[in-house]
Amino acid sequence: MPSSPDTLLSDLHTSLEALQRTLSADLTLVRDGDALEALRVAYLGRSGRLTTIRRGIGSLPVAERPEAGRQINEAAARIESSFAEHATRLSRAALDAESAARVDVTGTVPWPRRGALHPLRQTIEAIVEPFQRRGFAVVLGTEIEEERTNFDALNIGPDHPAREGLDSFYLAPGTLLRTHTSPMQIRMMERHPAPVALLVPGAVYRRDAVDARHSPMFHQVEGLCVGEHVHFGHLREALLALCRHLFGAAQHVRLRPSFFPFTEPSAEVDTSCPGCDGSGCRTCGGSGWIEIGGAGMVHPQVLRNVGYDPERLTGWAFGVGVERIAMVRYGIDDIRTFFENDRSLLEQLG
Ligand code: PHE
Repeated sequence: MPSSPDTLLSDLHTSLEALQRTLSADLTLVRDGDALEALRVAYLGRSGRLTTIRRGIGSLPVAERPEAGRQINEAAARIESSFAEHATRLSRAALDAESAARVDVTGTVPWPRRGALHPLRQTIEAIVEPFQRRGFAVVLGTEIEEERTNFDALNIGPDHPAREGLDSFYLAPGTLLRTHTSPMQIRMMERHPAPVALLVPGAVYRRDAVDARHSPMFHQVEGLCVGEHVHFGHLREALLALCRHLFGAAQHVRLRPSFFPFTEPSAEVDTSCPGCDGSGCRTCGGSGWIEIGGAGMVHPQVLRNVGYDPERLTGWAFGVGVERIAMVRYGIDDIRTFFENDRSLLEQLG
């Protein structure tokens, strides 16, 4: 019995729907572009399933063919968009997989290492800071000096033991690595009329054998203040303010009579030991005091050497050891520690 046109059309509808369903099922198994292309050929290719259904139009009554064609075209469009959607899904999944392989978004990120100032640099900054706040200039000299400025003008005569080659590194006759920062006193006073108030941090060089307390290169900070009516009390006050700034408000300063050719009177500068508050410990060798440098009133001859009038002008000067102060500040008992560049130590002190 021949099927009625309605039955033919509804058969067509049923088989198109079935086709769409099998396509959905087939697509869930497709994981890559090649399999997707193969499936496209199986459905839409020359002898694909939809093409086969389309060929069946020829067996329909002429009157039904337009409707059948419309339904098949609609189905073809749906099938095309199913393929397109799946292609998008595949490429997104491929991207995700690729970036997951490259970046572990759940991993912990190490903080970048931060640089820090070397403990000696930090100590120099701590020494100059209270003076800078009071208007002192910070100036840097040169590490290569002349005998004239390193010794002669500082009243260190030709017979002074410090002039013997044993103590100094000579580069040429009359030229040496500075043995202290004091030559900058001369250079600055020669260049500038009084009053002057300045600090000179920097490296100095002496022929010392290396041990826990000595290094042929170390650092000093020189202080100089020259003007009218400057007196020893000002020096004492400046040193006390420095030690309290460095080690705490309870610090005491002791000035022991000493001798330097370029100061008169001269003193060794001690600060009460911050490790034991003066009662005696390993840091201060049991004495309760720590020597940090030398100081005194600028010698009248030095003032004359730079063209200053010692009848009108007076001044104080000091020179403190940076490593010495840093060792106490950081509780380090070997000066070599500062020059070894041990990163874990520098990070701890940074
Ligand atoms: N220049 C002296 C030294 O190196 C220290 C000092 C500086 C002493 C200034 C008195 C005044 O030992």
